[in-house]
Amino acid sequence: MALTSELGKQIKLKEVEGTLLQPATVDNWSQIQSFEAKPDDLLICTYPKAGTTWIQEIVDMIEQNGDVEKCQRAIIQHRHPFIEWARPPQPSARNAKDCMVSYYHFQRMNHMLPDPGTWEEYFETFINGKVVWGSWFDHVKGWWEMKDRYQILFLFYEDIKRDPKHEIRKVMQFMGKNLDETVLDKIVQETSFEKMKENPMTNRSTVSKSIMDHSISSFMRKGELWGLENHFTVAQNERFDEIYRKKMEGTSINFCMEL
Ligand code: A3P
Repeated sequence: MALTSELGKQIKLKEVEGTLLQPATVDNWSQIQSFEAKPDDLLICTYPKAGTTWIQEIVDMIEQNGDVEKCQRAIIQHRHPFIEWARPPQPSARNAKDCMVSYYHFQRMNHMLPDPGTWEEYFETFINGKVVWGSWFDHVKGWWEMKDRYQILFLFYEDIKRDPKHEIRKVMQFMGKNLDETVLDKIVQETSFEKMKENPMTNRSTVSKSIMDHSISSFMRKGELWGLENHFTVAQNERFDEIYRKKMEGTSINFCMEL
């Protein structure tokens, strides 16, 4: 599929310890590196486009005991600022192909990220980990290998999508909360894709158009499982699966192969 971007953005990423980052992140790097979590901090550690906003909203809804009005107090980026707040880590993974499609469209609409180029070009960029925050494979494998060594709750986007109440209950228990079934049902309802897409506190509609242009692609785009449309050609799909097998060897995560 030949998708061409007309943006021609001139954002230059910088490499830090082998990972590409946005210039503003590099400027803050020493502060980020010296960050120390307190025992009761909660850290959400997602690969870009794996459902960060979704899990942020779920956590806030649990923390606020399902109080929708309290969760309307500010946009999600202010309620859960990146890196500045933490508790035990809670990585969330989404299958690599959906992440890649989502990231591709996010780079098209986000003027703070480089132009993704054509889909064919982006395929190479993504599999080589030359995107902001580095390789999907390193992120997911890295956290997977850590998960039994620390107090970590490893969640899958796919599981939350298939059975939200079950997964939200796991998050609640991890947070040491005990909410009623009715509150859990409400959280499921309020954190659905449809609700969050309409919610200005979660859908990034308040971000200036010069940063995110929703007319190019929505931040809350599809929210689907295997919503790959016809992005991957048969050859790309086979190559991707082969790379996946090699890079993810030794882990039991196999959610890339469902196509
Ligand atoms: P798509 O681009 O596939 O639609 P992040 O918050 O890490 O940037 O991830 C964004 C992705 O998560 C987008 O994927 C977005 O639609 C999806 N998402 C956000 N909230 C969701 C929800 N409540 N249910 C399902 N998917 C959601």
